[in-house]
Amino acid sequence: MAIKNICCIGAGYVGGPTMAVIAQKCPDINITVVDINEARIIAWNDDDLTKLPVFEPGLDSIVRETRGKNLFFSTDVDAAIDRAEMIFISVNTPTKTYGKGKGMAADLKYIELCARQIAKISKNDKIVVEKSTLPVRTASTIKSILDNTGNNVKYQILSNPEFLAEGTAVEDLLQPDRVLIGGDTTIEGERAVAELVDIYSNWVPKEKILTTNVWSSELSKLTANAFLAQRVSSINAMSVICERTGADVYEVAKAIGMDSRIGSKFLKPSVGFGGSCFQKDILNLVYIAKSYGLDEVANYWEGVVEMNNYQKNRFSDKIITTMYNTVSGKKITFFGWAFKKDTNDTRESPAIQVADNLLNEQAQISVFDPKVDQDQVYKDLNLLNTRDPETNLKLVKVLESPYEAIIGSHAVAILTEWEEFRHYDWNKIYESMLKPAFVFDGRGIVDVNNLKSIGFSVYKIGAGNPVN
Ligand code: NAI
Repeated sequence: MAIKNICCIGAGYVGGPTMAVIAQKCPDINITVVDINEARIIAWNDDDLTKLPVFEPGLDSIVRETRGKNLFFSTDVDAAIDRAEMIFISVNTPTKTYGKGKGMAADLKYIELCARQIAKISKNDKIVVEKSTLPVRTASTIKSILDNTGNNVKYQILSNPEFLAEGTAVEDLLQPDRVLIGGDTTIEGERAVAELVDIYSNWVPKEKILTTNVWSSELSKLTANAFLAQRVSSINAMSVICERTGADVYEVAKAIGMDSRIGSKFLKPSVGFGGSCFQKDILNLVYIAKSYGLDEVANYWEGVVEMNNYQKNRFSDKIITTMYNTVSGKKITFFGWAFKKDTNDTRESPAIQVADNLLNEQAQISVFDPKVDQDQVYKDLNLLNTRDPETNLKLVKVLESPYEAIIGSHAVAILTEWEEFRHYDWNKIYESMLKPAFVFDGRGIVDVNNLKSIGFSVYKIGAGNPVN
C-alpha cells in the first residue's frame, strides 16, 4: 500500500514546516494539516505569506508552491483523519502544570485526545506516527487507547521524532543529519516502517534514514535534547569562571571546539537556552529517571536546567550591580525577545525571565524584536503572574524601531542574537542614550573594542574583565 493521504494533527512549529516540506518533495501525496486553533489555520491559509503563524527562513516559498495543490490547512480534524492512511501526531506536549509530576512530567492530555479522536473516526487501518516529543513508552499508551476504544481497526504506531531546530527548520528538513523511525519488530510493524522510509526516501539518502525499535526512537529524541542543552550549560558554566579569571570564553570555546572529539558546534555562551523544548524535555527525562528510582541520574540532568536558570538570573544581577545597584525608574532597552534569532517563537525565552527580574526592581523596559509583536511580549509577561497586566503595560513598552526604543535609555541589553543588531548605527544609539551608556551583551555578538571607542561601558557575557 503506497501512502496517498496524510493527516497531520497540530499545525505548529513542527507540523507546519514538516508537512510543507513533505508536500514539496512528494507531490503525489495529499497532505492535510489540521488544528483546533482556528486562528492558526486562518493564518496558515492567509494570502499574505508574511502572516504565516510560524516565521522560518524559506518557509513562505515552499508554502506558496504547495498550498492548495497537495498541502491543505483545515480545522476539520475528523474528515482529515478519515481520509488518511497515515496520521502524524504533532501536537504540543508541555510540562505538566498540575497534579502528579507537576513542573516536570510531560502533559500528555493532547496526545490522548488525539488518540481518542483517531479511534473514534477511523474505519480502515491506519499508521499513526508520533512526531511530537514523547516520554519513552508512550507508544504503548497510544496503542492501548486505539485498540480499546476504536472500531476494530488495525493500527501501527511509529515513532518519528523531529530534530529540526527553529530558525533553520527548512534547511534541517531538506537536509537532515538523519531521520529516525522506530517501529514494532513484527512483520506488520516493519511494513509500516517501510512505508514511512519510502516517503523520506524521496529526498533523504537511504543511509541517513535510521530505523530502530519504538522505545529507542522515543528515548533518542529526549537524549539528543538533553545532550544539546548540556553543552550550552557547560559552556555557560565556563563563562562564569572566565569572567572571574580574565579568561575569554570565546577563546576557550574555540580552543576546545577544535578537538575533534568535542567538535565546534553548540559551544556559544549566552544568557541561557530557551525555546519550548530543552527545558521541558530534560525535566521529562528527570521525571522518567525518578520514576524508575534513579535519583543520581535525575540529579545529574537536573543540573543542566539549574545552570540555565543561574545564567539568566546572573545576567539580570549583572545589569543591576553594574548600574550602581539600582535600576528603579531607569529605562533599559531590550534588543531581542525571541528565544533565538530567525524565529518568532518566544516560548521559554531567557528575555522573559531577565525582564521579570528587572521589573521586580522597578526598571522600565522598552523592547525591540524584528519578529515579535507587542501582544506576544505582554502575553509572555502576564503568563508569569508576577504582577498585574496593568503594571506590565505601564512598565514595558514595545517599539517598532530600535532607534525609537533606545531614546532616553540608560542601557541596552542584547537578549537575542539577531544578525541585524551587529550592523546598527551604534554611534546614533550612543547619542540618544543617557550617560554613562551601558551595553549588556547576553549573546556575545558585539565588537567590544568598537563600542568602547564610541564611549559605551560594555559587558559581554563570558569575556574577562568586563565593564570599564
Ligand atoms: P505548537 O504548540 O507550536 O503546535 C502544536 C499545535 O497542536 C497547536 O497549534 C495546538 O492547537 C494543536 N493541537 C493540540 N491539541 C490538538 C488536538 N487535539 N487536535 C488538533 N490540534 C491540536 O508545538 P510545536 O512547537 O510544533 O511542537 C509540537 C511537538 O513537537 C512537541 O511535542 C515538541 O516537543 C516537538 N518538537 C518541537 C520542536 C520545536 O522546535 N518547536 C522541535 C522538535 C520537536
